Amino acid sequence: MPQTKIAGIGYYVPANIVSNNDLTKYMDTSDEWIQERTGIKERRYADRTGETTTTMGVEAARIAMERAGVTAQDIDFIIFATLSPDYYFPGCGVLLQRAMQMREIGALDIRNQCSGFVYALSVADQFIKTGMYKNILVVGSEKHSFGLDFTTRGRNVSVIFGDGAGAVVLQPTDNPGQGILSTHLHSDGADAELLAMYNPGTHANHWKETAYAHFNEAPIGDMFLSHRMIDDAQIFPYMDGPAVFKKAVLKFPEVIMEALSANGLQPSDINMLIPHQANLRISQFVQQKMGLRDDQVYNNIQQYGNTTAASIPIALCEAWEKGLVREGDLVCLAAFGSGFTWGSALIRW
Ligand code: UT7
Repeated sequence: MPQTKIAGIGYYVPANIVSNNDLTKYMDTSDEWIQERTGIKERRYADRTGETTTTMGVEAARIAMERAGVTAQDIDFIIFATLSPDYYFPGCGVLLQRAMQMREIGALDIRNQCSGFVYALSVADQFIKTGMYKNILVVGSEKHSFGLDFTTRGRNVSVIFGDGAGAVVLQPTDNPGQGILSTHLHSDGADAELLAMYNPGTHANHWKETAYAHFNEAPIGDMFLSHRMIDDAQIFPYMDGPAVFKKAVLKFPEVIMEALSANGLQPSDINMLIPHQANLRISQFVQQKMGLRDDQVYNNIQQYGNTTAASIPIALCEAWEKGLVREGDLVCLAAFGSGFTWGSALIRW
């Protein structure tokens, strides 16, 4: 059975740099608070009307495809991970297929938020291993800036997130020492509402008995979308930051250890850990808990904020471009986020 290798990788971030100080014009926050609690110095925001989640994904895909030496006609399957799609439906996969003038190939959209890229990689890995596809394009892209609450009410969420896209082309390799060694995916819906965007949606407050304990009153859910939802700012993401933080620092090390154990490896064998860029404090906690040196972990949340499904491919590509990921290296990808969902992938580069 062939293994799956990353044949090409690329990323795209918008030109518009937004500093922490820029955000103080809209909300009661400070550069000091944001850097101390998250490590973030700046993030990128897409051009409001000129760029979409799909168009940024296309830019990243073009670079990944060029580096893999393939054209749009060679791609035989698309997997697109995002939580900020151009449309409620159809997904970004078909929009990318159209924009890149690809053949009438399959296009799958993945909605696993911060774990989206690891989930997408795992799905692609199965298709390659079974021999079904030879060139799969996996994209993670987000245009968060279009859907955040930029008032003080939304500051715990809005200062964290940024826009951008990353992409990889996956191909089979017969070299047994190269490629994806394993992927490990998990979920626990018990806390689904702790990091969520409820509206617009069809939930009709069906889950209120168990799910909204942390709200004084249940969110509005009487319609798919209503003026009241908009007036009460219930169309923006909700996050119980401390609760997510606590779970993340447990699950990151757990799923990284699961990947290492499955392959008879240990933390000291990792050449580069690329954690989903949720919060620099989370990455540092994970690094410390796993006894990893600074040169074994790559972080770039300082420059880009949290780009959700795009954060891992952007960080992986940047680390590779800097020569920090080399042939033969053991690379570990790990993610945790809304759902909760989490996962890891071990790759021999
Ligand atoms: O990628 C998806 C997964 N997401 C995560 O992993 C995020 C995990 N959570 C976190 O990263 C952190 O919980 C946050 C960065 C979101 C928040 O940091 P925190 O240290 O947990 O702060 P907090 O939510 O406990 O809030 C502490 C205080 C509050 O004020 P009071 O009640 O103590 O007066 C907040 O209102 O900080 C206030 N606050 C802010 N102040 C200035 C919250 N957001 C801000 C802000 N600027 N942007």
